[in-house]
Amino acid sequence: MSKNHQKVVLVGDGAVGSSYAYAMVQQGIAEELAIIDISKERTEGDALDLEDATPFTAPKLVYSADYDTCKDADLIVITAGAPQKPGETRLDLVDKNLKIMKSIIEPIKKSGFDGIILVAANPVDILTYAAQKLSGLPKNRVFGSGTSLDSARLRVEMAKRFNVSPVDVSANMMAEHGDSEFAAYSTATIGGKPLLEMAKEANISMDELYKIEDEVRHKAYEIINRKGATFYGVATALMRISRAILRDENAVLPVGAPMNGEYGLNDIYIGSPAVINANGVDRVIEVPLDDREKKAMADSAATLEKIAKDGMA
Ligand code: 2OP
Repeated sequence: MSKNHQKVVLVGDGAVGSSYAYAMVQQGIAEELAIIDISKERTEGDALDLEDATPFTAPKLVYSADYDTCKDADLIVITAGAPQKPGETRLDLVDKNLKIMKSIIEPIKKSGFDGIILVAANPVDILTYAAQKLSGLPKNRVFGSGTSLDSARLRVEMAKRFNVSPVDVSANMMAEHGDSEFAAYSTATIGGKPLLEMAKEANISMDELYKIEDEVRHKAYEIINRKGATFYGVATALMRISRAILRDENAVLPVGAPMNGEYGLNDIYIGSPAVINANGVDRVIEVPLDDREKKAMADSAATLEKIAKDGMA
């Protein structure tokens, strides 16, 4: 992917998709951005609006398109799907959104697309699994936003608690992007110092850290209850992952990655740090977990495996 003209297709121009398109234009990433949605009016309107932003950022072609545009795309980002309503979990969306995913992958496949697919629609780990199976693309070239957003949320909370910049907190939420995720505190660091050591010195108890973990796990519900949806956080995480792919960065990011024996898991997508470059998920970084975290990973994987397999049956 060393060519100097890159094309991204966005499928799903709702709140998440349009915020992603805006972030991509703002950052000047990719020369071409095609937008697909069941509402043509919406994509046409957004393309017209977004192209007005390009003279202020970087030259970029933004347009409304149909699936045949996927043929020569480098990256397709899928945000299309029913969003969570207040009180709904991500897993409640599985039946509706698997149907939508099937209706999206079919025409993508027909177009002859041979790039990378990044999935953000929920439940993301399950829909990523389905997208890979249905597309037949190699596992490393289909992956999900996974716990990228959740890890950002954890970094935000740690930054507040330890009075440092969130940029300098190295900490991951892992496993399902959803209710069974966990904070991998045992490997978290700030400026190279173990976060758990810093907590001890600052008299921050494990109970308090677990309370924060739970708040992070439920932050989406807090946002949805107030404004009906979450979109800026995830859209920016998607932009960051897209940049790592398109610029072949070898960036280490928490994503929904395909497991190939890591954590004792196979044939599943789950949140873990991974090296992201022009190959997609170049490799998973298997983080050493303590006993609590190992159990949380295994339990979360068991939940996801069951739903993924039932969904594809
Ligand atoms: C989020 O975590 C709802 O998955 C979405 O913000």
